[in-house]
Amino acid sequence: MNLIQRPRRLRRTDALRAMVRETRLTPDDFVYPLFVCEGEGVRREITSMPGCFNLSIDELVGEVAAAHGAGVRAVILFGVPDEKDPVGSAAYAEDGITQRAIRAVKREVRDMLVIADNCLCEYTDHGHCGVIEDGDVLNDPSLELLARTAVSQAEAGADIIAPSNMMDGFVAAIRASLDKEGFESIPIMSYAVKYASAFYGPFREAAQSAPQFGDRRGYQMDAANSREAMREAGLDAEQGADILMVKPALPYLDIIRAVRERFDLPVAAYQVSGEYAMIKAAALRGWIDEDRVVMESLTAIKRAGADIILTYFAREVAAHL
Ligand code: PBG
Repeated sequence: MNLIQRPRRLRRTDALRAMVRETRLTPDDFVYPLFVCEGEGVRREITSMPGCFNLSIDELVGEVAAAHGAGVRAVILFGVPDEKDPVGSAAYAEDGITQRAIRAVKREVRDMLVIADNCLCEYTDHGHCGVIEDGDVLNDPSLELLARTAVSQAEAGADIIAPSNMMDGFVAAIRASLDKEGFESIPIMSYAVKYASAFYGPFREAAQSAPQFGDRRGYQMDAANSREAMREAGLDAEQGADILMVKPALPYLDIIRAVRERFDLPVAAYQVSGEYAMIKAAALRGWIDEDRVVMESLTAIKRAGADIILTYFAREVAAHL
């Protein structure tokens, strides 16, 4: 009797490996994050994110059209306004940078899904995700502003609202306001499980949203906790979230898997700016094979249980899938 089991039989050729492959990426999986700023003809590369740019609306529309041509079907927009104030007025202004960008993209690239990130940190002069009193981020007063922001984003034509602010009760507050204003069909993709992560560093350069004092540990989650992640996801599901997001992605594959197993909602994972920057930096030095590391990382995120992946590599990867 032959006691040796031979799993290598199914690895012998490319065709065999493809036949038994369990996880496949498609362009449908991806959401492409983009940063939109004031001005015209602006295409300013983000130092810590080579290949990513602050784009003025005209350039943004071109980038979205190119991504669409490559097969990308969804973008998430982050506004970088010129003027910031303590209450983040530019986040919910009818003619705010994000609102104008949403309108332009929906006008020019009709069937691209436009997701609006919903937060105040890019719009407040102190860089926190809510309003401040005596050095504290106030929860409930921030909810009102976030809900107003969501309505203004929906009015501009956003297809999905993605709140990333981590105030308690943000999904319920946004859902109620959207419904009241007649946007009951607009889904909420909640950043349900968002850790206070050092991997957001490059994003804060891109969005000029670094907190001017303190940090975000009073509202974003402690990296050490996974039961708490289930609690956060459960609260958002109860409050009416349509999609649950985990963020960052690769350092939190266990959390993606746990959310996948516990909940029946679609799960999104955000491969964040620091994950992107690390791959780019090593690749630029010739230390790793960028294409293969990107595919392996994205496959791992999907294998862990993500249905949707937000990634700065979306356009590139979609083009060669
Ligand atoms: C806004 C927001 C952040 C990211 C997405 N939305 C930054 C933060 O919370 O500090 C990070 C995305 C990335 O790093 O790519 N709150």
